[in-house]
Amino acid sequence: MELRTIEGNKLKGKKVLVRVDFNVPMDEGRVADDTRLRAHMETLELLRRSGARIALVSHLGRPRGKVSAGLSLLPVARSLEELTGWRIGFCEECVGDKVSATIGSMGEGQICLLENVRFHPEEEANDPVFARKLGEPFDVFVMDAFSAAHRSHASTEGVTRFLPSLAGKLMEKEVKVLSAVMENPKRPMVLILGGAKVSDKIGFIRNMLEKANVMLIGGAMAFPFLKASGMDVGKSFCEEGTETVASEIMETARMTGVRILLPLDLVGSTSLENNPKQIVVRSDAIPEDMMGLDIGPETAELFSTEVLKAETILWNGPLGLFERDPFGEGTKRVGLSVVERTSAGAVSVLGGGDTAAAANLLGFSKGIYHISTGGGATLEFFEGKELPGITPLLACPKSGSGVEPL
Ligand code: 3PG
Repeated sequence: MELRTIEGNKLKGKKVLVRVDFNVPMDEGRVADDTRLRAHMETLELLRRSGARIALVSHLGRPRGKVSAGLSLLPVARSLEELTGWRIGFCEECVGDKVSATIGSMGEGQICLLENVRFHPEEEANDPVFARKLGEPFDVFVMDAFSAAHRSHASTEGVTRFLPSLAGKLMEKEVKVLSAVMENPKRPMVLILGGAKVSDKIGFIRNMLEKANVMLIGGAMAFPFLKASGMDVGKSFCEEGTETVASEIMETARMTGVRILLPLDLVGSTSLENNPKQIVVRSDAIPEDMMGLDIGPETAELFSTEVLKAETILWNGPLGLFERDPFGEGTKRVGLSVVERTSAGAVSVLGGGDTAAAANLLGFSKGIYHISTGGGATLEFFEGKELPGITPLLACPKSGSGVEPL
């Protein structure tokens, strides 16, 4: 998948609109985790060096088309300023005269952040009039928000119909790494699956049944599979109606020769009150009143052994309730094996916000080859879907955007 990129374009003095994803966790009006700000740094540095005049557009949360003070991007502008040491302007609108005036008054290499684009209902409706207005004050559009590329919104797709559009550095990196894993993985390829919901990941798992050699399933994701294998899961969280899907997946895996490994043992508790008492049981002997909250030590060992033989590792979803001590042990143990294997040359890719949060909290994020910024976008990419925010950036577009290239 080849994209039109920033390099080679003369952007000096040009007014550039950059779609970033600053949909960051907030805590009492402050950015609680700036990973997503850092992820765009390479793009911003490159645009600054090229002398562009830069306006950043993003969403924050889901204000459903209404102004919501708690979801203003102003605190994010201040965090970006702290992070970079650059002066970051803020425009309290994202379309109209105020934006034109702000960008018109900016010098080369300067940056401003526009207010939350989802304060306008036309954004999510991908209204063409709004998309045109969004692009009007600018010469060029740069799409860097890979994690919002599965949304067909005015600021991700609509605006590309009115401006020459390029992929930013983050977008380029995500597409390059994820495409390599998807299209041409070094084998054996091990998929680690966790998290709570099977229903969100059915398309992803089905597509991966054609690619992966081994699937290691933990977290609450494992319970429909254990149930479908005839086991009782006690009080464990098991998404309703997913047993049948789990059976189908196991049947397909048998036919395609993909090995699916389920937990042999689990760590659990009878309650989630303070200091829950921890019990280790075999997966086929889960007591009626117990809920499984982590993979057990034997399973962690088994999963690690598979990881240590892999050339490509794709991981989506934590293997236990990692945010509650001691139920992060399984995820940590397997995470450290992924790091060990990565240092020996394997390609490891983590996707999904929870998986990245687990890697950060449990201290193994630094040794991973690539942590995708996408949640839903990464899953849809691996499902093989066409992402509306990426298609207009293709070097050979399937349909013309109607805008002359730069
Ligand atoms: C994300 O956090 O996955 C992206 O920012 C997309 O957000 P959304 O699910 O609200 O569209």
